[in-house]
Amino acid sequence: MNHPKESPAVTGGAPAAAGQGAARQADQAARIEAPDYVQHGGLIEWVASIAALTKPDRIHWADGSQAEYDRLCAEMVAAGAMRKLNPTKRPNSYIAWSDPTDVARVEDRTFICCEREEDAGPTNNWVEPGEMRATLNGLFDGCMRGRTMYVIPFSMGPMGSYIAHVGVEISDSPYVVVSMRTMTRMGRAVYDVIGEDGHFVPCVHSVGKPLAPGEKDVAWPCSPTKYIVHYPESREIWSYGSGYGGNALLGKKCFALRIASNMGRQEVLSGGIGWLAEHMLILAVTTPEGKKYHVAAAFPSACGKTNFAMLIPPAGFEGWSVKTIGDDIAWIKPHTDGRLYAINPEAGFFGVAPGTSAKTNPNCLESLKENAIFTNVALTDDGDVWWEGLSEAPAHLIDWQGREWTPEIAKANPVNGKPRPAAHPNSRFTVAAAQCPSIDENWDSVDGVPIDAFIFGGRRSTTVPLVTQARDWEEGVYMAATMGSETTAAQAGATGIVRRDPFAMLPFCGYNMAEYFAHWLDLGHRLQVGGAKLPAIFCVNWFRTDENGKFVWPGFGENMRVLAWMLGRLEGKAGGVEHVFGVTPRYEDIHWKGLEFSRAAYERITSIEKAAWQRELELHAELFAQLAHGLPKALERVKGRLAERLAA
Ligand code: GTP
Ligand code: SPV
Ligand code: MN
Repeated sequence: MNHPKESPAVTGGAPAAAGQGAARQADQAARIEAPDYVQHGGLIEWVASIAALTKPDRIHWADGSQAEYDRLCAEMVAAGAMRKLNPTKRPNSYIAWSDPTDVARVEDRTFICCEREEDAGPTNNWVEPGEMRATLNGLFDGCMRGRTMYVIPFSMGPMGSYIAHVGVEISDSPYVVVSMRTMTRMGRAVYDVIGEDGHFVPCVHSVGKPLAPGEKDVAWPCSPTKYIVHYPESREIWSYGSGYGGNALLGKKCFALRIASNMGRQEVLSGGIGWLAEHMLILAVTTPEGKKYHVAAAFPSACGKTNFAMLIPPAGFEGWSVKTIGDDIAWIKPHTDGRLYAINPEAGFFGVAPGTSAKTNPNCLESLKENAIFTNVALTDDGDVWWEGLSEAPAHLIDWQGREWTPEIAKANPVNGKPRPAAHPNSRFTVAAAQCPSIDENWDSVDGVPIDAFIFGGRRSTTVPLVTQARDWEEGVYMAATMGSETTAAQAGATGIVRRDPFAMLPFCGYNMAEYFAHWLDLGHRLQVGGAKLPAIFCVNWFRTDENGKFVWPGFGENMRVLAWMLGRLEGKAGGVEHVFGVTPRYEDIHWKGLEFSRAAYERITSIEKAAWQRELELHAELFAQLAHGLPKALERVKGRLAERLAA
């Protein structure tokens, strides 16, 4: 083991060309060398300053190559941080098990540290930036001792896209390096984009577990102290103590949602038209007549975005096709024709494993055949992976905590009254989007794809009907703003609790939520004034249950029936009835060929109970009271109209 040195050893992806761009002196505090293709003085200085603070043994400039990926995976296997899966079953794939205390995003440890508390708004945790910097300086001081510090350049969105932006993550986790290579466009080419002085979002990440000289590392280093911190004004991200998902892969929620939502709004303040960073999947649908539509849909975490994005049209929908563009995040910006275009800023899927099967999501399963990393799933006796819902449970497994697992052991150790799962409920896979059989030909187009409709959906066992169309943009924004959803395993804490999750962005909006609503309303108005046709807005709920707690709607591929109705509405062909909250299809407005679904069952999932909606409206009022500061008047007006209709 190397001991801390004054100046850490440096490895680069490719050897510097002789005589050219040799060692570079960054600043007096720390001398560091960068590969010759790194020409950005500010970046080198920043890396030097972080190295001086965190005191790693070594610095490695990631080049994003396959060789680097393979080497880091092999090193992690040798160190016991991952296992290689059986190459005949699952070529070039790995399984990692996290520390049992580090399994999901930590919303209560996530902070938006802008100068003024009201700019973070009442739905975000806020600490004064100076105070937070002092806290983090203490925590990061020496936090990479005994470890390698990786410099990870990445682009969110296709390089060269007018919607894309670049970041550089510094991390002491090789798991983060290999994951970022799959999840983003990571590597050398990013340095060509930023050149000598281009803007990048600096992201600093540490697992928060320095190693003393000679100390043996653990399989999943992390810290009980966690901070996921955003400084929107300086567009910086600092993350400490977790190696898991959105806590550590900083391009994802931290940059592509919290910082980017700020950037999109900030652009308006500096005179631009503005843009949107949303927790949305993007898909393309082609009708039998050959017309192609694009839809972006926001569902909260673990509520079906990946499934919907990879939907396979069921029996009765011959001639239809659905293609995938993104499964989690959309960056949406007006193009020169005045319409909203969307890109998927990511390059891979970090998706929920449990529930994914040949029945529920065959495209996803096919994507996972090779070159994947699985985290917190179970290991089979033949060196493959398993999770709840994949197939009938094998007779024997090693569970996500490395323990023996049999159906008997599971039953003898129930969790919440159910057999103990072999895979963690928030276990996930990491795989390249390009491996998805349903990936759309334009998924990495620099122009993005034009959006025809937005869909918002929560997980609600009662109250909210299968599908509703908003009568106009304002009503649609209202529906999205007041959406409720039951919590899932994707966030640390209790599951199944209904909370308001506006736009599925509650944990991801990087500024005041009331202003976020205003931004949506204003952008719509500006585009309309410019003569553009705005996307239609729909609200869905796949999750209504019967008296036994069973889902009434078959969901998954059958969601195509709802999607087809929406497109019918866009084309002016599909019927519906207007009710208090918008327009809903009658039983006969849905294409049922290929599915037996009774009128009575349909009634169950589309009925609007007055009493339940009066209670629901009270929850809307609670949300609006919480967000009163800066809440757009238009939303109060829509609410007033709904209340009147409900009372009538
Ligand atoms: P994040 O990656 O956390 O943002 O979530 P996501 O929205 O991509 O979640 P995902 O698609 O992986 O959702 C996983 C969960 O939703 C699993 O429990 C699925 O079984 C369930 N699910 C997805 N689609 C449907 C559906 O149409 N009906 C029902 N009942 N469940 C669904
Ligand atoms: C979510 O929780 O919404 C995710 C997973 O997509 S994570 O990247 O961990 O945030
Ligand atoms: Mn998500």
